[in-house]
Amino acid sequence: MLQVGDAMSQARERLNIGILGTGTIFGAYARGLSLFPHLPVVRIADLDQDRARDAARQWRIPAWGTGEELLADDEVDVVVNITPPSAHARLTDAALRAGKHVYVEKPLAATMREALDNLATAKETGRVLGSAPDTFLGTAGQTARAAIDAGLIGRPFAGTSFVRSSKAQTWHPDPSFLFQTGGGPVLDWGPYHVAALVNLLGPVGQVAGATLTAEGEIDVTAPQRRVERIRVEVPSHATGVLRFESGALVTMMYSFDVWDTELPHLEIYGTEGTLQLPDPNTFDRPVRIRRRTDDAWSQLPPVIERTTPEPPKPFRALGVADLAAHLEGDDHRTSGEFAYHVCEVLDALQAITLDQGPVDVASRTERPAPALGARRLT
Ligand SMILES: NC(=O)c1ccc[n+]([C@@H]2O[C@H](COP(=O)([O-])OP(=O)(O)OC[C@H]3O[C@@H](n4cnc5c(N)ncnc54)[C@H](O)[C@@H]3O)[C@@H](O)[C@H]2O)c1
Repeated sequence: MLQVGDAMSQARERLNIGILGTGTIFGAYARGLSLFPHLPVVRIADLDQDRARDAARQWRIPAWGTGEELLADDEVDVVVNITPPSAHARLTDAALRAGKHVYVEKPLAATMREALDNLATAKETGRVLGSAPDTFLGTAGQTARAAIDAGLIGRPFAGTSFVRSSKAQTWHPDPSFLFQTGGGPVLDWGPYHVAALVNLLGPVGQVAGATLTAEGEIDVTAPQRRVERIRVEVPSHATGVLRFESGALVTMMYSFDVWDTELPHLEIYGTEGTLQLPDPNTFDRPVRIRRRTDDAWSQLPPVIERTTPEPPKPFRALGVADLAAHLEGDDHRTSGEFAYHVCEVLDALQAITLDQGPVDVASRTERPAPALGARRLT
């Protein structure tokens, strides 16, 4: 069963969760949080009241209604904000000012100005702000981190990071937000990759690259679609180089236009070998290694137990549990500051042109602490 859930639940105080937004990703949170008994979902809200009511019935959640009702509910300790990116900052601000701790989906906010304001509001109100992605807390992210910390690939000097289309127009009922400010491959998928990379290599110092948009409009073919055609308002293909403060250079391509490719998701190259990570939008797939002296690739033993149940289903909860553990004194791995750094890198990339040359990233963040109970590799 869910060992990490157990570890994160042990001797934990109960914190009541309220969820804002009962759209596509809601089920993953409801399913994930149900495995953390100390984090019961006590109320949910959506602009679409029918959707909120149906979700409450399906997941046996005791109260549902409007966002205002949720923020006014004294029972709610932590607000999980899983509305579209354009609504993130405003609702995060309102929730913090209502005295709630907040965990917000990625990106932290649709613009850096809004993200900075949210960090300031968290400080001002003394509430904790955490943000997705939390996928690097899975066994793959933690095992790759342990391999690097143990020096298994020597000094990491480079990497590659590739995102192909998530084909959202074929499955999401209204993927418009994925092609507007706050979306695009850079801000929608980039967070999984850059968070994984910062967990492994530390903060990014500079970004260089270029972007394009291959098609100005796309057809939505999802069977449950609520829209037929959407305008692409942000770059849908970005390519570039991230220079980490450590000196490591990572080559990246984040694209909704590349329909498929067999390029690896994420690889780290060290002076003594190569690490290959699975899709960083997953938690528990194997990490592979091939060192200078190895005859072939092999799988690394996971340093923590599975973090998601089997068989795999959409799952989210680790970041909320991380915030809850932090409230009791543990490190905050998915902190707002960490997410801000990730967003600043991606925001720079989204606007970058070849003519301007490299752009400096102003913010810095520590590599997050390894997950609770993570074993060391030798
Ligand atoms: N869909 C996925 O697979 C997925 C995966 C990981 C992360 N995310 C992230 O989760 C967030 C939500 O994505 P989604 O796909 O579930 O979007 P969605 O559009 O399917 O659902 C969003 C829901 O939020 C509601 N909403 C909007 N404004 C609101 C407000 N002011 N108050 C209350 N409810 C409001 C909408 O009515 C809708 O039901 C985004 O930040 C996205 O990046 C989505």
